[in-house]
Amino acid sequence: MNEKFCARYGPWALVAGASAGLGAEFARQLAARGLDLLLVARRGEQLERLAEEIRSEFGTEVRFASLDLAIPQLSDELRKLTAGIEIGLVVYNAAFSTIGPFMEQKLDDKLRILDVNCRGPLVVAHELGRAMLDRGRGGILIMSSLAGFQGSPWVATYAASKAYDTVLAEGLWAEFREHGVDVLACCAGATRTPNFEQSQPRGGPKPMEPRDVVAEALAALGRRPSLVAGRFNRIACFVMGRLLPRRSAIRMIGASTRSMYRANRPPR
Ligand SMILES: NC(=O)c1ccc[n+]([C@@H]2O[C@H](COP(=O)([O-])OP(=O)(O)OC[C@H]3O[C@@H](n4cnc5c(N)ncnc54)[C@H](OP(=O)(O)O)[C@@H]3O)[C@@H](O)[C@H]2O)c1
Repeated sequence: MNEKFCARYGPWALVAGASAGLGAEFARQLAARGLDLLLVARRGEQLERLAEEIRSEFGTEVRFASLDLAIPQLSDELRKLTAGIEIGLVVYNAAFSTIGPFMEQKLDDKLRILDVNCRGPLVVAHELGRAMLDRGRGGILIMSSLAGFQGSPWVATYAASKAYDTVLAEGLWAEFREHGVDVLACCAGATRTPNFEQSQPRGGPKPMEPRDVVAEALAALGRRPSLVAGRFNRIACFVMGRLLPRRSAIRMIGASTRSMYRANRPPR
């Protein structure tokens, strides 16, 4: 139990995209600090299991709801789910991505990336941010990615969506901090989540563990507008963003993305 953290970000935290990976780890670490949780994702059974685990381990209250964050009526659903509870912290963790040449990806999938990764955090910040501003305290943490620091072939839409996430959070950080509300973009690199492992990357940097990314993100909330998680990732970002010409950075990232995922693509 962390009383200072609860006073600033309690009593309830909404974790959007909580059923696996980093989202489930956010839920555990927030409960360990003493927050009650509202968990959402599409897979209700996973959420139910996680809720039971957290209740028995940490004794906090946990509610969950199966919700697709890409739906057009997200605002209405959020209002229903959060009616009567005070959400002091939002973690928007959910994301959707596809890998492969732009023209081989369905337009519907590319639009879904925008819905889940961009429209979702925008709606959540709009719907839940107002009450935080009125109260003069709270926090919004948006999971972003190193992919958002430059364009990359094969993940052009995902990378652009993550640039949006980082820049949205940074703008809100500057606007909301005057009102006592902390906003943070956590830009993760490769992290050992089920989703990352299912994508079966070949080679590439050693992935971080979700618990380390989440611990760094929660420690950085209220201290800065954005965070690159992991020392290796911070060095890589410095080299790519500050030392290399932009076209070289895009080429390097592109070559690495293609080599990590080429072998996994079905033959055409
Ligand atoms: N893992 C990495 O290597 C890595 C690297 C950089 C950045 N990140 C960022 O970190 C975050 C988490 O990544 P992750 O690897 O843990 O897993 P993920 O597969 O990206 O998804 C995480 C969660 O989002 C939920 N979700 C996905 N689409 C949803 C939707 N339409 N509606 C509701 N929930 C949805 C999933 O649950 P359901 O399937 O049950 O809905 C799951 O609980 C993402 O924002 C990602 O961009 C990850």
